[in-house]
Amino acid sequence: MTDLKLLSPLKTDAFEFKNRVFMAPMSRSRSPDRVANELTARYYAQRATAGLIITEGTQISEQAIGWTNSPGIYTDDQIEGWRKVTQAVHEADGLIFAQLWHTGRASHPDFHGGALPVAPSAVPFDSQVFTPEGPKPAVTPRAMTLEEIQSTIQDYETAARAAKDAGFDGVEVHGANGFLPAQFLENGPNKRTDAYGGPVENRARFLLEATDAAIRVFGPSRVSVRLSPRIPYNDMGDSDLEGTYMFAVEALEARKVGILHFMEPVQLPDGLKLLAPEARKRFTGQFIVNVGYDRETAEQAIATGLADAVAFGTLFISNPDLPERFRRDVALAPSDPATHYVGGEQGYTDYPPLD
Ligand SMILES: Cc1cc2nc3c(=O)[nH]c(=O)nc-3n(C[C@H](O)[C@H](O)[C@H](O)COP(=O)(O)O)c2cc1C
Repeated sequence: MTDLKLLSPLKTDAFEFKNRVFMAPMSRSRSPDRVANELTARYYAQRATAGLIITEGTQISEQAIGWTNSPGIYTDDQIEGWRKVTQAVHEADGLIFAQLWHTGRASHPDFHGGALPVAPSAVPFDSQVFTPEGPKPAVTPRAMTLEEIQSTIQDYETAARAAKDAGFDGVEVHGANGFLPAQFLENGPNKRTDAYGGPVENRARFLLEATDAAIRVFGPSRVSVRLSPRIPYNDMGDSDLEGTYMFAVEALEARKVGILHFMEPVQLPDGLKLLAPEARKRFTGQFIVNVGYDRETAEQAIATGLADAVAFGTLFISNPDLPERFRRDVALAPSDPATHYVGGEQGYTDYPPLD
């Protein structure tokens, strides 16, 4: 046996997570019809020893699409597909949240019959979008109207309800990696002059309304919010990252959100201040860290009180029974990046467990 804190249970108002080794959300691009299926169910069930699984980003609407072969959660077929997944994970004694995703400007006209992707503002930006024909340069998006913003918040609520219907234990609002809620939050992409732009109180409104929509369905303790101030992916930027994100963290704390899933590389370049400790001080729910952690750094994050649990991405791709491998302290299998986003069973459900 081992006395790793990582493997100790974590009790909250809503859950008893069996360990603190969480599976990070990862798009695997294996839903060509945008519906999760038996293969998806097998993949997640193989990883059900995680304390909590957070699914790959799943689109809340047609307009939210911006990635190839990613599943959605807005049609009856999609709900049925996800029900297979939640049942398989629950049968394997796991817990699973759906990650609710709107890509906003990080999309491409190829996904929208030639129409422009939407964003807070029509600001050009420099990024690549994973289209069915391969990576393509992003285009300048179209600014959302106030009515579209309201209907998109409604889409979050409808998607959260669909997730509940499909048997998920909770949802994560994807507020990270330069997708729509982050595009509103950071003042680089958001140049609006109405109630959703300008001061941080306004820029945070979209993220918080999307979170409130999830809370209306699941209650706060079954909602997670993912943030990534230090990830510039999708050409993000803000003139006061710390101020902006600490405002958001305090607003999530005021809502008693159950989980704050904070992405910040365990090793930041010299001179950059770590924001996770600042966020941790302001948030009394479960604080999850991610990006670049291994067994030792994760154990340290828990032992020092930085985090309650650690989410692992790539390690869970190739080590389906990651908590057990941590317990035995065995060498970990490397994953093949060539099959991260393509390949059917290969590189998906064919990584064997230890025994
Ligand atoms: C193949 C792949 C797909 C990913 N897809 C998502 C996603 O859908 N949603 C998300 O929030 N992050 C996504 N990420 C980021 C991961 O959740 C995680 O933050 C990243 O892998 C860093 O954690 P790690 O160092 O443990 O791998 C993805 C990462 C990978 C490798």
